[in-house]
Parts: sequence; C-alpha cells; structure tokens
Amino acid sequence: MPSAHLAIPRRLTAPDPGWTTSADVIVVGSGIAGLTCALRLRESVDRVLLVTKTVLDAGSTAWAQGGIAAALDPEDSPEEHLHDTLVAGVGLCDPEAVRILVTEGPERVRQLVELGAQFDRDDVGGIKLTREGGHHRDRIAHAGGDATGKEIERALIEALYAVQHDPGIEIIEHALVVDLLTSGEGADARVCGVTLHVIGEGQIDGVGAANARAVVLATGGLGQIYTSTTNPSVATGDGMAVALRAGARITDLEFIQFHPTVLWLGEGSTGQQPLISEAVRGEGAFLVDVDGVRFMQGQHELADLAPRDVVARAILRRMAETGQDHVFLDARHLGAEFLQRRFPSIVARCRELGFDPATELLPVAPAQHYIGGGVETDHDGRTSIEGLYAVGEVACSGVHGANRLASNSLLEGLVFAHRSAEDVTARIARGELPMPAAPCPRSEDEGILDSRHRLELQRAMTRGSGPVRSAESTAAALEECARLAALPMIESAGPRSWESTNLLHLGIVLSSVAGRREETRGGHVRSDFPERDDDRWLRHQHTVVRRPDGTLSITETPVEPMDLTSTATLEGES
Ligand code: SIN
Repeated sequence: MPSAHLAIPRRLTAPDPGWTTSADVIVVGSGIAGLTCALRLRESVDRVLLVTKTVLDAGSTAWAQGGIAAALDPEDSPEEHLHDTLVAGVGLCDPEAVRILVTEGPERVRQLVELGAQFDRDDVGGIKLTREGGHHRDRIAHAGGDATGKEIERALIEALYAVQHDPGIEIIEHALVVDLLTSGEGADARVCGVTLHVIGEGQIDGVGAANARAVVLATGGLGQIYTSTTNPSVATGDGMAVALRAGARITDLEFIQFHPTVLWLGEGSTGQQPLISEAVRGEGAFLVDVDGVRFMQGQHELADLAPRDVVARAILRRMAETGQDHVFLDARHLGAEFLQRRFPSIVARCRELGFDPATELLPVAPAQHYIGGGVETDHDGRTSIEGLYAVGEVACSGVHGANRLASNSLLEGLVFAHRSAEDVTARIARGELPMPAAPCPRSEDEGILDSRHRLELQRAMTRGSGPVRSAESTAAALEECARLAALPMIESAGPRSWESTNLLHLGIVLSSVAGRREETRGGHVRSDFPERDDDRWLRHQHTVVRRPDGTLSITETPVEPMDLTSTATLEGES
C-alpha cells in the first residue's frame, strides 16, 4: 500500500506573497454560480472581489448546451421535478436540498430572464421547453438552440460590466487561487482569504494575498483529471483542491458523471471533446450499435432518454459486447433544416470535424462530463470551515446524489449562489464574520507536481478510476499517484504545475473513495461488484486530510432509503 507517499500537503509550493489586498468577500470563479453570487453580494456588501483564472467566460457554464431545468410549464410541478431528480440520484440525494432546488428554481430562472437572458420562445411567446434524459416532462429551457450556457453567461457578464466601475466590486482576471489562508486548526479553523497568482501589471502581479471575511468557491469541476472530458481546459479542480488542503470536508468524490454521447474522435484524442447534447435525443435521435441495433429499447422505460448513468452503462456494455470503442447516434431522420435550426452549434462543430448529422451516423462514446461530489455544503453553501462557502459544481450540496439529472447543474449554480450570498450578507450584518485581524501563519508543509507529468496522471485516472473500475484498477491509480507525488520538480512552480498538483491531490481522494465503494451506482461500473448494494453502500463517503501527517481520513454516513415508487407522478407517462 503506497500510503506513505500519499500525504497531501497543506499548501502548494509557491513564492511568498508580494502584495496584499482585502475585501469583505472574495468570490472565486465566474460561471453561473460565481457571477450570480458576486452580483447579488455587491447589492449589500461593501467590497466584493471577483477573481477568475483566465477570462470571465472561459469556464464550463459557457459550454452548457442542453439548458436549465425548471418546472415552468403550468402542467409541470416542482414535485415532479423533485421526483425525477431523486430517481436520477440513485438514493443518495439530500431530499431537502433537492426540494430547495426545484421550488426556488422557477423564480430564479424568471429573474435571469428579467436580467436579460434570452431563452428560445414558442409560437405564443412562452419559454420553449424540451426534454432530456430522466425527465418525464418537457422542462428544459434553452437558448440559441444549443447555446444556453453561452447566453446565460453573456447576460450575467453584461450585468457585471454594468456595475464594474462601482467601487463595491473589483474583478481580477487571470487570477489563479493557489491556496486558502486560514487561522486555527480542526474545528476552530476559519478562512481568512486566499493566496492568489495574478498575471497582471503594476502592483497586482505574481503571487499575493487577499484577505476577507468570507470566501465563496465557485470554480467548477475537475474534468481535466481524465484524458477526455467535455469540460474546458480550465476545469482542473482548483476550488476542491484548495478546500481539501485547508481541511474542508469533501464528500462523494467518486461520483463522476460520464456523458453518454460525446463525439468519438479516435483513441488518441485527449482534452476537451465535443458534446452532443442529450437534447438531440430529446428531439428524437437514438443510439444504435455497429450493427444498426437500437440497444436502448427494453433497457429502461425511457429507452434512449433514460437517466444518463443508465445510458452510459448500456453504451459501455454494448461497446464491450461488440468489441468497438464507440456506438452511434442516429439523428438523420430529424432532417437538415431542423438540426441546423435547433442545434446550430453542434451541427457546426460536427461539420468542422468532418461529420454531417443530417446524413451520417455520429460515432459517440461516454466521456467525463461532471462531478456530483465535491466540497460538502449545507443548504446555504456553508462548508465545514467557518467563512468558506462553495457553490455549483465545486460543491457537494446534496442535490445530485450519485448521478445528476440533466440540466440541473445550471439551476443548482443559480439557486445556491443566491442562498449563499444571502447567508453571507446576513452573517456579516450580524457580526458573525469579522475581518481577520492578523495575517495567518504560513505553513511550511508544501508540495508540487511537475506539469510535464499531467498526461501520466490523466491516463492513470482514466484507466483506474474511470467509467469502469475495480479494486485492482483503483489501487493501480493510487500507485501511480504515489509515484508521481514522489517525483522531483524540475520546472519552476507556476499555474500549470499548480493545476497539475490540484489534479493529483484530487486523484488521490477520488481513487481512494472509488476503491472503497464496492458496488455499481451512478456514473461508474465496478467490474468486480456489478450490482448496486443498498445494504452496504446506501451511504456517503467523506474525506478530510489529517494534520500534521497529511493522510486521508475517510468516514461514512448511512442514508435513509427513499420509497420513490409511492410518489404520485410519472408511472407510464413516457
Ligand atoms: C447536455 O446537453 O446533454 C448536457 C446537459 C447537462 O449536462 O445537464
């Protein structure tokens, strides 16, 4: 067992801060969660600092194709949305968190419209709604056909630009958070800011320290931990990693969602891969294998529109049975005119890559898409460290359980960003989040991975802790993490190596909890435990880094079984 090498240091190797700044609240990240939170906070808090790793619209939000789910149709109800979300989550959602999501969601989407987000409209001017996997109703609002995230991001950034000269808000782009500043230990730990690397000019350049009463992490996911993902290159798990090193509780990191239909570009294709939205199946496209057989029929009542863990698993099974590395999506019958109008970005990207969805089958295979686990939060985004909040994909708020329902991610970012902003505001007003008095002591316990080893890590994670896993494969992934962690650093520390080290630290946690979960649930298949095992595994796994040795402590919490068959919705509707 390589545990001696698997210690996670308190911080990344980095120069001492050369400058300092301060704010009441620092928001890290500029997707739907970060922008919403920052905009809401600046209405009530004196000084908000919004930092983002590259430019404002570079994160995952702008890549969201399908849409945002909310019970907006008068025929639909939050109760039905709740039911579909709980079913997709395979027994591990927090029902109260989901209730908040589905009941507050419709109003938050309407506020987005008031802010200027232009959703696609039907013939009578209402928001046009479509269906995606696991939903029993048309409840996905979309924009620009398949460019929903881009439109939401545009509207939020425009709202931010409208207030950027306001002294109450400062925006710093090209600013990578290196680590959290904290005071106290264990239960007394409290966040007091961040260390931050800025590629800037003048005073704010290089590594600095930003002090604050509260820090909100809204940094998105960790898709770049695998060789292929739908996530953009900035998705390197930075927020989860800084929280982990600072001692925050990280929950359910093994629940990775592999999107069933990612355009398959050949074995050697790495990095961000083109997503073919589930909405294409929502409009009638279907999956076939290499022999033209529609293999989703008979597998689930919703067939090609089953929850995406079911579809991804069926694809993996069919790939193994046919000895192929992909299956096909057939959208030809939808016609060129419809596909062009409804999915302009997907059609354009396919054509760029030499595929025409109107005349050809599209080769597709599952690839990493989302992480359901993350920094554990309560219903207001509070983490286990005082003053530290997490919102959106970086967080484990309880809404996704073992598998996220399609188009619930933008909604989660929106709803919980509002709640976090309101909680921070109220606590500052009550004097519960004082400004940290003194600079926090700096830990000497540090580590770093040379970024030239990133691909080795991604390959080890894909082979060992990917969609198909086993005790042996996850142990092999951990061995490789241990080997990488022990390598000497040759390049000088900088953004690429900090990101790579964040991925390494998360790889250690993810592979550890993936190895322990001896069952198949949610997005992955355990080849050595192919069944779901509620008796043993209807439970969450929580990870905390123990200090001073940096080893992981993993605990479990059992979950009460839910009877979802009794909910008076849905049976037979599909
Ligand atoms: C998709 O459009 O298929 C992705 C939407 C999502 O991840 O919720």
